[in-house]
Order: sequence, then C-alpha cells, then structure tokens
Amino acid sequence: MSLIEQIDKDRLPQHVAIIMDGNGRWAKEKGKLRVFGHQNGVVSVRDTVEGAVELGVKYLTLYAFSTENWNRPKLEVMALMELLVATINKETKTLMQNGVRLNAIGNLKSLPDKCYRQLQETIKKTSDNKACTLTLALSYSSRWEITDAARKLAEDVKDGKIKADDISEEAFASYLSTSGMPDPELMIRTSGEHRISNYLLWQLAYSELYFTPKLWPDFRREDLFEAIIDFQKRERRFGMTSEQLN
Ligand code: IPE
Ligand code: IPE
Ligand code: MG
Repeated sequence: MSLIEQIDKDRLPQHVAIIMDGNGRWAKEKGKLRVFGHQNGVVSVRDTVEGAVELGVKYLTLYAFSTENWNRPKLEVMALMELLVATINKETKTLMQNGVRLNAIGNLKSLPDKCYRQLQETIKKTSDNKACTLTLALSYSSRWEITDAARKLAEDVKDGKIKADDISEEAFASYLSTSGMPDPELMIRTSGEHRISNYLLWQLAYSELYFTPKLWPDFRREDLFEAIIDFQKRERRFGMTSEQLN
C-alpha cells in the first residue's frame, strides 16, 4: 500500500505547522555556503505545499524566518530576503494553479520594502483560492505575537470596545495573527532539534509534535505523509482518560 493510501482521509489534520530547519547543515555537509541550503529548501516547500493540497490539508503554516533570525550575519539575512521575494514572485502561478491562498504572520512591517510589497501582491492575487491556506511566519516570534495581541486588547479595553471581564480564551485568540484559523493538530520540526524556538506557543497548546532527523532540503511530500500516518496512530486525550475516549 502506498503511503498516501495509508492515510485516513476522514481524520486528516486540518492544520499542519512546520519548523523548516537544517538548511545550513545540509549545505555544510555538501561543502557549500549556507545560502545554498536555503535555495534548496525552496524545492521542499513547493513539494510539501503540493502534498498538502493533494491530501486536502486546509492550512499549512511554515516558519520561514524568526524574529531571532535577524541576528544572523547580515549577508545571510539579505540572501534570505532576496530569496523570499524571488520565490514568492516565481511561485505565484503555481499557487494559483493549485488553489493555494498565501497568508503571512509576523512583524511584516520590519521586512524590507521589496519583500513586503511582493508579499502583499501575492496575498491579494491568491485571496480567493480555496484549496489550502499557506501561511508564512516571517519575522515571527510567538512572544512578539502574544505581546502585540495584549497591546491591541488593552487599547480596545481602554476604548470601551471590550470589557476586561469579557476576555475569554476565544476573545484573546481573536487578537492573535492566526485568528480565524484552527489550531495546528500537528507540528513537524526537521533537522533533529527538539524545541519550539518561539513558534506558535499559544496555538500549539495541544498539538501533536513530530520530530524528524531529516534536514529541510531533503524533506518531501512523502515525509509529510509519514508524519500524518504517525499522527493518526496517536490518541489525543485533551486531559481525559483513555477509557473516557473509547
Ligand atoms: C532553517 O535552516 C532556515 C531558517 C532558519 C531561515 P537553518 O538556517 O536554521 O539551518 P541550520 O539549523 O543552521 O542547519
Ligand atoms: C527556527 O529555526 C526558525 C525557522 C525555522 C525559521 P532556527 O534554526 O532559527 O532555531 P534555533 O536557533 O535552532 O532554535
Ligand atoms: Mg536552524
């Protein structure tokens, strides 16, 4: 039985989040510069997005650049930003063909102008697509997002738009940049690191975590399928007992 046939289509995760890690090490293994790893990571992004569409996963969120990544060598940061603009531009056609809606979360205002404009252009162009929402986390960190949400919420309390007593989990979540999306049921990290690195801390509260030693440029849709097969074998208890669930 092929990998995709082993997946129960009725129990698909609606939202898969990925930390795409290991580009630098992949390049180093080949005696190349780190940027070479990032360039090859684009191939993995394309294949993974197509795999998600093929399966019917509705939301795919990719960690592309963290707030902390601004501290990398200037040349690497610049190369990543250039790559981002070029990739989004080049892939817009494929996104349209596959019915993928592009979305972005993070402190987008901190991106170079050119990146910001290209991003907004493709977001607008793909806004009516329905098959899958591809969210890029860019200049994103979860603590930044939560702090930003708290700030906006405080403003609204001050302006009388919401009462402090009415702040529920749902109300708070509506101030996050993922508002309107279901929480990821599955979070995948490549490259063998076992940490969250400031990614979707609120949203991952009950996600199943899947770690693979594969470096991101080697990741393909089959790896996504394997992660989902693993996910479907797990019992998600949400604090209850196994007996209660059965
Ligand atoms: C992930 O790969 C891509 C980004 C963080 C932008 P890395 O660049 O972190 O690669 P490693 O972890 O150093 O191998
Ligand atoms: C996390 O990877 C951020 C992205 C994949 C964009 P890092 O490589 O930056 O994370 P750490 O530094 O190893 O925790
Ligand atoms: Mg890394």
